[in-house]
Amino acid sequence: MDDRPIGVFDSGVGGLTVLHECLVTMPAEDFVYLGDHARLPYGPRPLDEIRRFAHEIALYLEAQGVKLIVVACNAATSAALPALQESLAVPVVGVITPEASAAVRATRNRRVGLLATQATVEAGRYEKLVRTLDAGIRFTAVACPALVPLIEAGEQTVDAVREYAAPLQAAGCDTVILGCTHYPLIRPVFERIFGRDVTLVFSAEETAREVADTLARKGWENEPGRLGDYRFLTTGDPVVFRELGERFLQLPLGDVERVSVSELERAA
Ligand code: DGL
Repeated sequence: MDDRPIGVFDSGVGGLTVLHECLVTMPAEDFVYLGDHARLPYGPRPLDEIRRFAHEIALYLEAQGVKLIVVACNAATSAALPALQESLAVPVVGVITPEASAAVRATRNRRVGLLATQATVEAGRYEKLVRTLDAGIRFTAVACPALVPLIEAGEQTVDAVREYAAPLQAAGCDTVILGCTHYPLIRPVFERIFGRDVTLVFSAEETAREVADTLARKGWENEPGRLGDYRFLTTGDPVVFRELGERFLQLPLGDVERVSVSELERAA
C-alpha cells in the first residue's frame, strides 16, 4: 500500500479529461493536478522549451511527494516523455502510444488522420508509431493552432474544427486521432463534423488503465475502499481555472492554489 498522491499535469484544463478517467478507474487514489496556465498554449512553442517546462513541473510534483506522474498533455509527451522517464525517480506515464495503436486497430481503409497542436504534429511521434505498426497506412496530420486558446476561453469552436477537419475528410480518413487532451472537452463538435462513419480516437481511458496497471505491478495502490481526494494548482488565475475546470469536469474543484512560474523554475 502507498498513500502518496498521483501527479497529473497539462498546460491548462485539457488534462482534466485524463484526470477524469483516472478518478473513475482509481477511486481510492489521491491526485494533485497542475495546470500551467501562465505559459499556455504550449503548442506554438519550440519542442525544447516545452521539454524544459515539462521538466520543471515534473520535478516540482516529485518534490511534492507524488508516487507517479501523468503527462496529461500530448505536446509535453511529444517533447519530453523519454527524457522525463530517464531523469525522474518516479514512473512517468504519457498519452501518445495508446492512441496510435488504437487508431491502427480501428482503421478499415488504412487512412488515419491526426488533429493536434503544432508541437505535436512537428514532433512526428504519432506518425512514427502508426507506421511502426503498419507501414502501409496513409497518415495525414493537421495542426490546429486556434483550438486550445478557444477552448480555454470557453468560446465557440465549430468553425475552426470544420476548417481543420476538411483536409482529413478530403484524404478519406476513416479514423481520426484527437491528439490533444483539450479536444475531448469539445467531443460533440468533432462528432457532429465527422459523423458516424469516422472513428475518433483519444486515449484518456487507456492512459488511466496504464497508470492503474503500473501501480498494481509495483504494489503501490492506496487502501482499497477509501474515497480518494484531489487538489488543483495553477500558474494562472485560480478563479478562472476553477470556473472552467468545474464546467468541464462536472465536479467541485475546491480551492485552487496558485503556484508561480518561478517556484517551478526553482524546482528544476
Ligand atoms: N492539452 C495540451 C496537449 O495535449 C495542449 C497544448 C497547448 O497548450 O497548446 O497538447
